[in-house]
Amino acid sequence: MSDILRRGRLSSTPDKDIMDFTSSMAADKWIFEADVLVDMAHSIMLKEQGIIKEEDCSAILQGLFKIKGEGIEALDYSYEDIHISLEARLIDMVGEEVGGRMHSGRSRNDEVATCIRIRLRDELLSLMEELVALRASLIDKAADNINTLMPGFTHLQHAQPTTLAHHLIAHSDALSRDTARVSDAFSRVNKSPLGAAAFASTGFDLNRERTCSLLGFGGIIENSMDAVSSRDFLIESASVMANIMINLSKMAEEIVIWSSTEFNFIELDDMYASTSSIMPQKKNPDTAELMRGKSGVAVGSLMTLLTICKGLPLSYNRDLQEATPNAWRSVETTRSAVRIMAGMIGTMKVNVEVMAAQSSTGFTTATELADTMVRAAGIPFRTAHQIVGVLAKGDGNPSLAEIDEVAQDVLGGSLSSRGLTAEMITEALDPILNINKRNVTGGPAPDEISRAIAAREDTLEEEKFAIAELNIRIENSLSRLFAAAQECIDQQGK
Ligand code: ARG
Repeated sequence: MSDILRRGRLSSTPDKDIMDFTSSMAADKWIFEADVLVDMAHSIMLKEQGIIKEEDCSAILQGLFKIKGEGIEALDYSYEDIHISLEARLIDMVGEEVGGRMHSGRSRNDEVATCIRIRLRDELLSLMEELVALRASLIDKAADNINTLMPGFTHLQHAQPTTLAHHLIAHSDALSRDTARVSDAFSRVNKSPLGAAAFASTGFDLNRERTCSLLGFGGIIENSMDAVSSRDFLIESASVMANIMINLSKMAEEIVIWSSTEFNFIELDDMYASTSSIMPQKKNPDTAELMRGKSGVAVGSLMTLLTICKGLPLSYNRDLQEATPNAWRSVETTRSAVRIMAGMIGTMKVNVEVMAAQSSTGFTTATELADTMVRAAGIPFRTAHQIVGVLAKGDGNPSLAEIDEVAQDVLGGSLSSRGLTAEMITEALDPILNINKRNVTGGPAPDEISRAIAAREDTLEEEKFAIAELNIRIENSLSRLFAAAQECIDQQGK
């Protein structure tokens, strides 16, 4: 090979060790298809601006279609990155007199930034679809468990009765904010840096809006230095993904705990379990454990990105090449985790009786009992809190007489004389009645949960529609790009 990049300025070539150190070819598999699109859009724009001839553009585009068809495997991996390798392949095909014109008014600096943004926006859209599917899985499971009692926890101690539906909607709502954050990140990722060239733009009369529109971007990154040097869009995306993985790790941790013999709240489908190589009885929730573990990959990718970008002077620095693969690592981990969590939730078996039996152990109805004293006997909540606190040292099932005895000590009078009845106590100690009473907005009462589920189902439909719209807008732009390329080729054929 005669190296189209190094043959002018440099006279010695890097050895394998240096090449392995400096090449981005391995990670560039993520942006091969994007690079072909960028080359096509740039070439079409160059032709339209009269910078390259129609016939040259046609030959370049034919070559690019061929390279696209052959795939990344056909490229020469001894080049330092995909951009130069692809250009070298084009020149091989159509000759330097023609192929050597494609890179006019462009640098790999604006090229790579554009490619990363194209791939990342697609990944973010897919991630949004997957988050919506996971939330749908949680909401479906919630709909099946509106009346499934369980103990709610604080400090991992039994706290108050709630329902599984209420618990699952909490996770779904957190993921709904994550989806909104992905959508927000998408809007900043989907911007075109193309035309910034190395950093100072170019004296060629480029039309940046045209390549922006051919590539389906929502707008351009205006300042040409900012365009080539900023990777805040990677940091933002990685940050959003790290947060998603933190949320999934919390769910995964509960799945691990809830699958234990001690809890026995749920059983994962065997698909998501592993067994021991020595203990034949074991069914381990490995998939959930790995999800908890892989959250570290997403957090680590974010930290690596931040650290690489810290203190870089304007404009392009090669350090940025080292930043990019961290975004892909995060994308890969987060997207698969979201998909797998949806399946794990959808297929898990809920041990309804165990959960219900545990819902009132640990005196989870104590708050309702104190509230009942406040409502029936008119005493201050803080006083009721003290009385029930003393009673909590007993069996968690106090009678009216026991209550009166404690009240006598605390208040110097009984609660029965102030209107508290045995019936009220029985009601307060019933976990189902506890839940039915909690019908303030966002509470676990079945009516309120049914309303919440219906509202979320509507939102999910709207979001699905909005994501589809974004996808269609990009697909339409790319169809126009391919049509423009084909038209240029056909014109020459005539
Ligand atoms: N592989 C490089 C990257 O990912 C492409 C840009 C190279 N530019 C340069 N001036 N060496 O950043």
